[in-house]
Formats: sequence, structure tokens, C-alpha cells
Amino acid sequence: MTLRHFLEVDDLTPDELAEVLALAAAPEPPRVLAGRGAALLFEKDSARTRNSTEMAVVQLGGHPITIAAGEVKLDVRESVEDVARTLACYHAVICARVYEHEKLERMAAVSSVPVVNLLSDASHPLQALADLLTVRGEFGGFDGRTVAYVGDSNNVARSLALAAGSVGMAVAVASPDGYRFGAADEARLRARCAELLLTDDPAAAVAGADVVYTDTWISMGQEDEADERRRDFAGYTVDDALLDKAAPGAVLLHCLPAHRGEEVAAEALDGPRSRIWPQAENRMHSARGLLAWLVGAAGGGHP
Ligand code: CP
Ligand code: NVA
Repeated sequence: MTLRHFLEVDDLTPDELAEVLALAAAPEPPRVLAGRGAALLFEKDSARTRNSTEMAVVQLGGHPITIAAGEVKLDVRESVEDVARTLACYHAVICARVYEHEKLERMAAVSSVPVVNLLSDASHPLQALADLLTVRGEFGGFDGRTVAYVGDSNNVARSLALAAGSVGMAVAVASPDGYRFGAADEARLRARCAELLLTDDPAAAVAGADVVYTDTWISMGQEDEADERRRDFAGYTVDDALLDKAAPGAVLLHCLPAHRGEEVAAEALDGPRSRIWPQAENRMHSARGLLAWLVGAAGGGHP
């Protein structure tokens, strides 16, 4: 069987994504990692991703080993490639959170086991799987549903749009000039999204949407731009007035960590339309489904 990696949502076909979502909901997790290891390497901070992925590995019978940035020092103590080759000697899967997405591609190029993106500057595909589970849990399916993302066209937005488009949802993204998707991204999104609106108008994006989504204006690694970004994103806060423009029954999602009073108002994040805690829990279920698929159904993960 072919070795598969998961660096971005569109590494999987829509049918394969459906298999992953089905595995995520399986009542008895397959013990595909029994007696095997999973390496979880972090160049950036994490609360949800580390804990949900570690627990997903445990539920599949495996043993997670989390490696902090200072322990292996990618491309400083040794090359990304040699770290990946080393970890593949012991583990059935290598999961990594990195700054440059290219580091994941370099790992995948040499690894003999699947490589999973735990967030890069470009994408956050495991988050997007949890987002899909949350939408399905709320509405029972995806048909005829629209997701509107308001904020920075960042890693989370990119993976969310690809995931939502892959299951047939309509997608709208509102970002200010300078923070919108470029032509290459737009082409990649249009390959998965039959209905895609890219705008600078939050109200236009949210109008009639079933799911409203936002993320931080200042991603990890962008702290030096914080003041400028806060100025540039003025008017993009998701609050109750904006949510009122969405469809009746609409829900609010946020990958977290959240910054109340910046990208999202506390009244909205902590209000009745918020589904952020089921969404956070779904990080574990979706990680379990993805890992089960990668090392089980897809046949990878044999060091
Ligand atoms: N949503 C998410 O990835 O959270 P962490 O950065 O805490 O892992
Ligand atoms: N866009 C954010 C997501 C954090 C989960 C970041 O990259 O920091």
C-alpha cells in the first residue's frame, strides 16, 4: 500500500475525507497503534493539539512521545531530514507543528512513515477535520450549508475552506486588504469549493451563513506585527450584531486560543450560538480518525 501523508486537507480526496470522518465516529477505536509509537514534535506552543493528539494515540493503543522545540532543534542540531529518518525508526507516525510548511514537506520526502501536520504557517488541517465533525454534529450533515470565515486569511482559514469545500459546503471568507488570499490560494480553493466568495466585507460573508468562524489576527510568529494588525483588522470583530446577519440557527466556531475583544466579542464567544467546546473536544476524535486511517486503512506506518 502507498505511504500517505497529511500536510493539507486536499492531500486526501473527498471520499477519503469521508472515510476519516467515519473512523472519527467509530464507537470502538481500532487498535492500529498497539505496541507502537507516535512522535509529536512542537516548534510552537499548543494546548489542544498536543493533548488531543496524545489522547487519540492512546485510544488507538499507541504510545505518544511529545518532543519540545528545544530538544531536537530542527536544522540547528541536525537537519529536518535526519530528524525525520530517526523518528521513523521508532514510530508509526511523525506529527509535527512547525513554522515553515516546507519543513513538513522535507520530512515527508524522506520519512518511511506518515507525516501529519499539527499546524504550520500555511495550514492547520487537523483543526479543519474537527471543524467538519462539529458542523456535522450540529446540522446532521453538510448539504446546503455555508461557512463564513471572518478575519485573517491564514493557516486555519485555508484548511477550513478546503475542508468545507471538499464536503460540498459553500464558503465565504472576509479579510481586509493585505490579508486576503492571493491568486495561487484562490485557484487551490476553487478546485475544492464549488461556491466560494472572497470579500473584504464581513457582513456580505456572514449573510445567511450557517457557520461563522474566526481566528486570531496575530498568529504564532507574527507577534512583532501585533500593533499594525490590530489597526488593520479594526471592524472585523465577530460580535452578536454580526452573528445576527447569519442564518437562523447559525453557530459560531473558533479554533482557539481566542482573544476576547479582538477577533471575537466575549458576548459571542461565550454566548448561546458558540460551539467552541464541542469543537475543541472534536480535535481528539478527528485526530483519532485521521491516525486510524493513515496507519490502518491507508496501510502506512510500518517502520
Ligand atoms: N486550535 C489549536 O490548534 O490549539 P492549540 O494551538 O492550543 O494546539
Ligand atoms: N492561526 C493561529 C492558530 C492557532 C491554533 C496560529 O497559527 O497561531
